[in-house]
Amino acid sequence: MKTRILFVDDEPNVLSALRRMFHDMRGEWDMAFAADGPTGLAMIAERPFDVVVADMRMPGMDGAMFLREVQIQNPGAIRIVLSGHSDRNMVLETVRPAHQFLPKPCQPADLKAVIDRSLSLREVFLDERVKDVVARLDRLPTVPRLYADLLGLLAQEEPSMREVAGLIAQDVGMSAGILKLVNSAFFGLRTHVSSPAHAVNLLGLDVVKALVLGVGLFDRFDKEAFRDFDLEKLWGHSFGTGRLAREIAEQEEATSAVKEYAYIAGLLHDVGKLVMATNFPDAYRDVIAACREGQGTVLDMERMYFGASHAEVGAYLLGLWGVEDPVVRAVYLHHEPGRDQRAGFSPLLAVHVANRFEHELVVIHQGYALNPLDELYLAASGLSDRLPAWREACAAVVARGPIPEDI
Ligand SMILES: [Fe+2]
Ligand SMILES: [Fe+2]
Repeated sequence: MKTRILFVDDEPNVLSALRRMFHDMRGEWDMAFAADGPTGLAMIAERPFDVVVADMRMPGMDGAMFLREVQIQNPGAIRIVLSGHSDRNMVLETVRPAHQFLPKPCQPADLKAVIDRSLSLREVFLDERVKDVVARLDRLPTVPRLYADLLGLLAQEEPSMREVAGLIAQDVGMSAGILKLVNSAFFGLRTHVSSPAHAVNLLGLDVVKALVLGVGLFDRFDKEAFRDFDLEKLWGHSFGTGRLAREIAEQEEATSAVKEYAYIAGLLHDVGKLVMATNFPDAYRDVIAACREGQGTVLDMERMYFGASHAEVGAYLLGLWGVEDPVVRAVYLHHEPGRDQRAGFSPLLAVHVANRFEHELVVIHQGYALNPLDELYLAASGLSDRLPAWREACAAVVARGPIPEDI
């Protein structure tokens, strides 16, 4: 089936240029063009699209308003915004409703690459409901304690950049949100940024303030609404896995890029669990109950109930948000690293092992089955004999507790 793509721009020249640029794609793409938001929405009402590409600056309904409507009316669509560099502040308005931000004018190859990449992970989903929920999401909940601390810091006259970055780097929701923005092609950074602290430094305090206070990029987790889901525990495990994955990379004397990937992939590896548990609380309760009754692993039960596991859901979300491939890959395969054909050390390997160590070293539920280590995969990577050294180093990290240098 062809991919349905809608382009919305108020400048006729831009639309005809897009039509020309992607003429060769007609075999794969079913393209539609609209000169303004309301026309685009009418087309969506007739038949939903897979991808919607919108201009930022349009008279009447601007790109942000339009994409917010798309989010409601065509939740499964991948939303891309094109904006000129003078629109820097306007871009902040689209941080939530858009998945990806591209500078205008943009190269056809860049736009095509973003579309292809965003579509590639969709194939794994059998369940349209899950696909829609993931694509509709525009922010992730944050640990209330960290969120309150951040608000406190930002209220100070001269907040310390280091402290702000440190807080953001500890929270899964905040880190993912910041990375979504900084990794967008809009900022034109030559290399992608995987460290939340680095991202905060690049964006600057004013932008961070606008994101938190103006746009509401971070959502405080509502404990009352999800009584049987402990975000603090899951985020604690995630932060721990990030730190241990980076320690393992450190032990292997990996490059600083690989260390950053390992940390962020560890931090984000279970983000899919949150998406499932908060959007489908009843079904996720059934998943947990089925696991407790011994019907199968969490992964099997998630696939049975949702058609996808938390690994795929998380990877899909992060891919849509423009998080880098090595990170998305590590999240995608963290329970099944053997599906990765590459030998040797990788962020995936670090996260797979760190996830197990974190559960082993920080016991929350006695008797809770530990994630098995994939011995065959470790042997194929030629690194099995490194496990004892990694375990020892990770135990030292856990014993030491988080220190500022970790961030
Ligand atoms: Fe997991
Ligand atoms: Fe985990």
